[in-house]
Amino acid sequence: MKDLFEKIYRDKGPLGKWASHAEGYFVFPKLEGEISNRMKFQGKDVITWSINDYLGLANHPEIRKVDAEAGIKYGSAYPMGARMMSGHTSLHEQLQDELAAFVNKEAAYLLNFGYQGMLSTIDALVNKHDVIVYDVDAHACIIDGVRLHMGKRFTYKHNDVESLEKNLERATKMAEHTGGGVLVITEGVFGMRGEQGRLKEIVALKKDYNFRLLVDDAHGFGTLGKTGAGAGEEQGVQKDIDVYFATFAKSMAGTGAFIAADKEVIDYLKYNLRSQMFAKSLQMQLVVGALKRLDMLRTMPELKENLWKIVNALQSGLKERGFDIGNTQSCVTPVYLQGSVPEAMALVRDLREKHGIFCSIVVYPVVPKGVILLRMIPTATHTLEDVEETLIAFSAIRERLENGTYKRLSAAVVAELGE
Ligand SMILES: Cc1ncc(COP(=O)(O)O)c(C=O)c1O
Repeated sequence: MKDLFEKIYRDKGPLGKWASHAEGYFVFPKLEGEISNRMKFQGKDVITWSINDYLGLANHPEIRKVDAEAGIKYGSAYPMGARMMSGHTSLHEQLQDELAAFVNKEAAYLLNFGYQGMLSTIDALVNKHDVIVYDVDAHACIIDGVRLHMGKRFTYKHNDVESLEKNLERATKMAEHTGGGVLVITEGVFGMRGEQGRLKEIVALKKDYNFRLLVDDAHGFGTLGKTGAGAGEEQGVQKDIDVYFATFAKSMAGTGAFIAADKEVIDYLKYNLRSQMFAKSLQMQLVVGALKRLDMLRTMPELKENLWKIVNALQSGLKERGFDIGNTQSCVTPVYLQGSVPEAMALVRDLREKHGIFCSIVVYPVVPKGVILLRMIPTATHTLEDVEETLIAFSAIRERLENGTYKRLSAAVVAELGE
């Protein structure tokens, strides 16, 4: 018999194998200073394009004040216990009511974290007779939620409605056989590449197929739609989303999440969401902070306007310079380049050290081999000067990528670890 840890000692995994070259710099970097458009990395000032603080609330003085006052008033323990037992308060209820109204649903329920909340939501919505159909490129929280499912599941090609329909046909047959129903899951905005889920076309399929739709709108909430209610509002189909999910970790610059749906569905979930039944309630400081943030989302449309001014300047500037930014329809701004993982490392080092630009780098196995994805998150705190500086830097690094500079610089890494 093998030692359980044998595989851990032998194989660090597709990302872990780079740890000795990557840790502290490309992964687990320490960004320091106040959360904003410019922070410090290893003592150097950098323009930061890797933080999901879309509306610039993380460090807004009014938010800092409310967070601090709530900390003084409630401490970090209150309330103790799960919602069902001893962790329920009027402010939790108030936040739920306000969130539900904001996203145009009858009711909402708070989740401690988006990731585990989504797992639990999927788990609670289906039983072993039901069939799940979900986008193959869905966020890990959806994939892991589906892993809990004891019944059948089908994936459809990324954002491909034809493929969804094919799989809906299979799922419908299967559900007729098992006596269950069908749950379709997509994202409102795909966080890696920035395309919006094709919600309008997906809900149109409800005419021909009987299914319920769960949408993870982590990146759409606060950034899309006239009022900021997200991708459903943007596409005019919010009412056809059966269960709407968003996290506080992005536009709300906080911690926590929520689901919103018809009251009867939320009443059911309230009694069946294991992530909330068997875990301590969302702490009060976060609830009070979320109420304030939501109020600002509602009453300060200029936050979203500032965000989109930067998004539009960055995305059109990149396109004008001939960069491939894929098919983004949101603030998420991907820049696709061609090169190996070691070249990507040399390129990002150059961006940070020479140009003072900090953005996330995504490589194989998250994207296909040979693709370098620089993922940029514009925020309301960025300025047009930040954009201009970044565009100049991007042109410079592309030139060095194409003339082989990064290949030469990364030759030693390739010799040691391969591509
Ligand atoms: C699409 C999507 N869903 C869910 C989550 C998880 O949310 P949380 O950070 O609140 O756990 C994230 C990341 O934050 C996300 O990008």
